[in-house]
Amino acid sequence: MPCPDARIAVVSETAPGPGELAPAQVRKLVAETFNNTAPEYDRLGVDFFGTFGQWLVGEAHLSPGERVVDLGCGRGAATFPAAIAVGAEGSVLAVDLAPRMVELLRADATARSMRHVEVRLGDVQDVDVEGPFDCVLAAFVLFFLTDPAAALRRYRSLLHENGRIAVSTFYGDDERWHWLRELREMVPAEARPPVPTDPAPFRSSDALHALLADAGFTPARSVEREHRTPFRDADHWLRWSYSNANRAIWDRIPAERAAEAHELARARIAGMEREHGAIELRTGVRLTTATRSPEPPQPRSSSAT
Ligand SMILES: C[S@@+](CC[C@H](N)C(=O)[O-])C[C@H]1O[C@@H](n2cnc3c(N)ncnc32)[C@H](O)[C@@H]1O
Repeated sequence: MPCPDARIAVVSETAPGPGELAPAQVRKLVAETFNNTAPEYDRLGVDFFGTFGQWLVGEAHLSPGERVVDLGCGRGAATFPAAIAVGAEGSVLAVDLAPRMVELLRADATARSMRHVEVRLGDVQDVDVEGPFDCVLAAFVLFFLTDPAAALRRYRSLLHENGRIAVSTFYGDDERWHWLRELREMVPAEARPPVPTDPAPFRSSDALHALLADAGFTPARSVEREHRTPFRDADHWLRWSYSNANRAIWDRIPAERAAEAHELARARIAGMEREHGAIELRTGVRLTTATRSPEPPQPRSSSAT
């Protein structure tokens, strides 16, 4: 279980499948989880989203003066590198569903005197912003959407003629963390959040490229990069896991079992350290870019992949 991605982190064999919860309920669950993580999200000195945001912006090849929209911006892992790349003559509009992410990112942008960064509360499933933009950034957000195909068609419509999109997703699996399933199983079945969307389009570069092509983008290109995150000890990992999408598990483990869950995590991490000589998370990050195609999107059902 390599990634702190709520879609994967909270799903177990018994979780309801895609479409089993109304989109409004999915939005509520996602907003609650990320609201709870916002104060410490990517702020614990653990090298993770900040690095991935820089990688994504690097792949987007932004130029000074460009107009960018960062969808599902979180605390600005991609927003700030984008704002630096486009400079004060450009602009970055950052949008997120979780009010505390929005408040805190806005405060950070003000503290950094980045007046060309605007932060708004909004749902990027059907985002309501005024284009055209030169680039859409979507860092680790598409897999939270109930209809990513429809969202991507909307993003295309926000772009200039030669505008581009840069998307990051996770790939792969670090088998050393498979014990996280045991934590997920401590969540009562009725409290397990659903899989918000069909995970198939995110399982391979080819599948994601097909999703983008159907939404009206030119042939996409993906770069896959592996990242290793070290943790000092179990408590370091525990605190970090409360600050990202794994929080969805912690918030659903019954209070009377919280101490047991923490002890389980400490024991498994101690075992990992004995066996592998380190406490480390290996994460695969897929960075995918494509350009707006002059051809309109293919009219397909949203679940086609
Ligand atoms: C894994 S975090 C990634 C945040 C940031 N892009 C980064 O790379 O650190 C996913 C973010 O997407 C936001 N999000 C999820 N679904 C959303 C939706 N429908 N509309 C807007 N934001 C959404 C969450 O609130 C969260 O901040």
